[in-house]
Amino acid sequence: MAADSHNACAGAGSSSHASRHHLAQSAMPILPASYTLADDGTPYSDTFEDVYHSAAGAIGQAEHVFLGGNGLPGRWRGRDRFVIVETGFGLGLNFLATWAAWRADPERAATLHFVSCELHPFAVEDLAVLHARWPEFAPLATELQAAWPSLTPGVHRLHLDKDRVFLTLYFGDARDGLAQLDARADAFLLDGFSPARNPDLWSQKVFHLLGRMAAPGATLATWSVAGEVREGLRRAGFEVEKAPGFAGKRQMLRGRHLGPRGAHVEATPRLRESDAPQAARRAIVIGAGVAGSSAAERLAARGWSVDVIDGADRPGQGASGNHAGVLRPLPSLDDNRMSRLTRAGTLYGWRHIRRLRARGISVRAEDCGVLHLARDAAQLDKMRAVVERLALPASLLRFVDADEAERIGGWPVQLGGWWFSDSGWVQPPTLCAANLAAHPSQIRTHFACPVAQIERVADEWRALDAAGQLIAAAPVLIMAAGTGLRDFPLAGTLPMVSARGQVSLLDAAAGSAPRVVMCRMGYVSPEVDGLRCAGATFDVGDDEPDLRERDHHENIEKLEAMLPGYTTQLGPTALRGRVGFRPASPDRLPMVGAIPSVSSVAPRTPLSEIPRHAGLYALSGFGARGLVWAALAGELMASLICGEPAPVENDLIAAVDPARFILRPVRQSATDD
Ligand SMILES: Cc1cc2nc3c(=O)[nH]c(=O)nc-3n(C[C@H](O)[C@H](O)[C@H](O)COP(=O)(O)OP(=O)(O)OC[C@H]3O[C@@H](n4cnc5c(N)ncnc54)[C@H](O)[C@@H]3O)c2cc1C
Ligand SMILES: C[S@@+](CC[C@H](N)C(=O)[O-])C[C@H]1O[C@@H](n2cnc3c(N)ncnc32)[C@H](O)[C@@H]1O
Repeated sequence: MAADSHNACAGAGSSSHASRHHLAQSAMPILPASYTLADDGTPYSDTFEDVYHSAAGAIGQAEHVFLGGNGLPGRWRGRDRFVIVETGFGLGLNFLATWAAWRADPERAATLHFVSCELHPFAVEDLAVLHARWPEFAPLATELQAAWPSLTPGVHRLHLDKDRVFLTLYFGDARDGLAQLDARADAFLLDGFSPARNPDLWSQKVFHLLGRMAAPGATLATWSVAGEVREGLRRAGFEVEKAPGFAGKRQMLRGRHLGPRGAHVEATPRLRESDAPQAARRAIVIGAGVAGSSAAERLAARGWSVDVIDGADRPGQGASGNHAGVLRPLPSLDDNRMSRLTRAGTLYGWRHIRRLRARGISVRAEDCGVLHLARDAAQLDKMRAVVERLALPASLLRFVDADEAERIGGWPVQLGGWWFSDSGWVQPPTLCAANLAAHPSQIRTHFACPVAQIERVADEWRALDAAGQLIAAAPVLIMAAGTGLRDFPLAGTLPMVSARGQVSLLDAAAGSAPRVVMCRMGYVSPEVDGLRCAGATFDVGDDEPDLRERDHHENIEKLEAMLPGYTTQLGPTALRGRVGFRPASPDRLPMVGAIPSVSSVAPRTPLSEIPRHAGLYALSGFGARGLVWAALAGELMASLICGEPAPVENDLIAAVDPARFILRPVRQSATDD
């Protein structure tokens, strides 16, 4: 297949060169694209030694090969949603051409999902330079560049075109990414460099993974007609045929998935329940904290009508009532699930705040930076090793010594640590209020309205008050009641605990140090509206609602250990504060998904086979990181309910599935035997 390329005239390459790019680990640092321009001006990859698109025109190729070969725009007409999966995102020209064609079509699908993998994403500055060559796409390209994520491994969900176009990017090797993406594709765009120079992207593994993602009737298109490509696709359950190619190329390939009987592979097991309850697009959310308000906003953005019910008289009065909390990731040496999920949650969380603000909705928050100081020399060494190993963009994570930490924080410190310059603080009640205000015609709030009971009648969930009066009814009910979840017997399988937390509020002058969030066993915020928030205590199973002197004392001791000499002017009695009860799960990961209807299952039962209550979901267990999880968990919840491509990897969906707690003790005892 050496001569198979975007261009009929492109020469053969060495496949041993391409095999150097076998970066199979998702934890591998992301190396940005390195390109030059060929003599005719076509972008050329220095890494793969091939052009990014046909010299005869990227957009002509996109329209003829990728859209035309998949029967588009015709096939998306009248559909509620159309899902496209691409193998290599490159400059995003196929995406821009697809988005433009979708916009231009009055009969387009209501929403467009475009899912793509990219091993070497472009730096946004390079995208801007290259996109400028296609001025016809300027508004779309500008919107894409503005939303372009940080170049970190894993899934990034971008919302474009007023939430009607969803771009889900996996940064990393497609052979890992396609196995980790939970999507049902209506059309595939196979776009790598020439198979000779980029064999990984045309491998049997990739074809099988595409076959697993195929929705009924899924089609594919590619410019390559190499024999190995045709044979590999056939083996993965696609029937393929040659068709007239674009410009100088005589032929291209188009194909159709033959369904489960045509494939030699199983369809991807789904971790979600049936899509049936979503037809009515109506949901109840119990709880107007960061969890419930986030889910309500994400469903409302999809056109759902949502009733949000809370016992308090306004949003963010439970655990989400603090003056300022920290929104930042928690990296680890092995980039474990907590590390990946907190990174994804932080990046998505800040993008969410920016999107709310771009619509004129205010949120009190500032990405002033977060300094996490080491508690001792051993931890400092570990922190340095984590930074070196993960090699994340410096704006996300950087190692700083004590001198630099002191300059950043504005106060002498003993040791350096992690500097998250793009992270910061958020005032949770304002985020809750902003979420609920984002879609006024879609979200109806019921405050001062405690739910005493929920019941399923016919196909609907009903939320009732203490007098048995109906508050709201809908086919979908999301329990985001924080520690209040424990009062509902139907959520009895979820091992939720309450962890009391007290923060201390210190008077602070504007501009006084520290001007960034600082952490070390606890945290202290910069001045926010004349106050600084220091905390926090963490006491499981402690129900005391009143402020305690000894807890203030504990907070002040942590602050003094972090910033020596800082607290000499302060006394605990002069402090104000707030007590909240965190809804915490045993493994410190949130609970996002359908609630199991059984309390035990046979050992090794797949999560996808655990019976669930129809239309009943949990969004909780946010513990000490509610701000980190909230926006992404809300988006995941909405994606799961709607049966859409997910915004995080499959193993992370499994990690937050509320049914995991049923499996673990069973598996544990099976192992112990
Ligand atoms: C002291 C402290 C400091 C923290 N600091 C940080 C931080 O720095 N960074 C971070 O990311 N996270 C932090 N957290 C954690 C974070 O605040 C929580 O994880 C998050 O607020 C939980 O949100 P939630 O929406 O699940 O719960 P909640 O905010 O408690 O919301 C649940 C809502 O459900 C309502 N409700 C309950 N039962 C019913 C019912 N039966 N009927 C109707 N309504 C009901 C409640 O009134 C409440 O409004 C902190 C928490 C505390 C307590
Ligand atoms: C021909 S270009 C794609 C052009 C792109 N579709 C566009 O519209 O601009 C191929 C892309 O695949 C990427 N790629 C190559 N091998 C990959 C792999 N194993 N996993 C993910 N992406 C890969 C390359 O970095 C390159 O950006």
